[in-house]
Amino acid sequence: MDLEQDDIVKEAEAAASSAEDSRALYEVKMQYLGRAGKVTALMKRMKDIAQEHRPAFGKQVNALREKLETLFASLETLAKAREMAKKLAAENVDVTMPGRHFARGALHPVTIVRNRLIDIFAGMGFEVFEGPEIENDYYNFTALNTPADHPARDMQDTFYVQGGLLRTQTSAGQIRLMEKKKPPIKMLSPGRVFRSDDDATHSPMFHQMEGLVVDRGITLCDLQGMLDEFVKAMFSENSKTRLRPSYFPFTEPSVEVDVSCHACGGKGCSLCKGTGWIEVLGAGVVNRRVLENCGVDPDEYSGFAFGMGIERIAMLKYGINNIKLLTENDVRFLEQFKD
Ligand code: PHE
Repeated sequence: MDLEQDDIVKEAEAAASSAEDSRALYEVKMQYLGRAGKVTALMKRMKDIAQEHRPAFGKQVNALREKLETLFASLETLAKAREMAKKLAAENVDVTMPGRHFARGALHPVTIVRNRLIDIFAGMGFEVFEGPEIENDYYNFTALNTPADHPARDMQDTFYVQGGLLRTQTSAGQIRLMEKKKPPIKMLSPGRVFRSDDDATHSPMFHQMEGLVVDRGITLCDLQGMLDEFVKAMFSENSKTRLRPSYFPFTEPSVEVDVSCHACGGKGCSLCKGTGWIEVLGAGVVNRRVLENCGVDPDEYSGFAFGMGIERIAMLKYGINNIKLLTENDVRFLEQFKD
């Protein structure tokens, strides 16, 4: 019996060509080469064949098996390659595409300056204490030696809310801390304050940094020595300070503190309006009455206090000419403070 090998191979080829993937191809292969496949069936026919024809028939079947095995092996290789190409195409990344832009944030200049101030004063042993933004009349004014009929209240008009007022100064924290803690005290108190003020260098809400030192034998000289250290760290190694007489109800004597202009080195320029000096903060020796109000004996203890506007320091340090820039949240402005 002659086996039409080529016909069977062609038929297998045709069946395989409609197989969509290597799985389907495997099924076709099994129809020919599997246990129940056509080649196995041919082998089973061996017993029906006359003895003398068996070797020739066996050879033909084996030759057919080999052809089919070769055929399916090459078809499998092709199918695998096609599948791999498809998988790669699906995973394809276009490395020439523009990257996604992740914007990096920056700290707000007021935050940068506040952190720097805390850093500098923490280095001198000050501890941070934060008071509430909604204060009452007692802590914000009366205990600070500013009774209801005191003219100094005029300068610090504020927003009155139920149960209190928006604090006009972080000085209120002096009282709150001294009520709780006995001297020695070295307190730093940052926070928001509110006033009825609004122009290029004043805003109804701004930030202050308060400082308070109370111990035995503290004098104005200690204040000046500390301020010298502070301006050197904040502005420049060559910065100097100058005290001018001033008035605050809660300090006596009171001073206005100027720092030598870091832009012109004291010669006079537009930043310092030709004077060589820039006002940076208010300060003074703590008024005896304030100590008394907090139960601290003014004959045993004395102290100094200072308060500065953080926006003002930021404006001086970075050459910002309008305080509104600090609250407008214009990213083009704020981005310039990335370090
Ligand atoms: N509280 C004062 C102000 O807001 C500043 C100040 C603080 C002055 C402490 C003296 C002592 O203007």
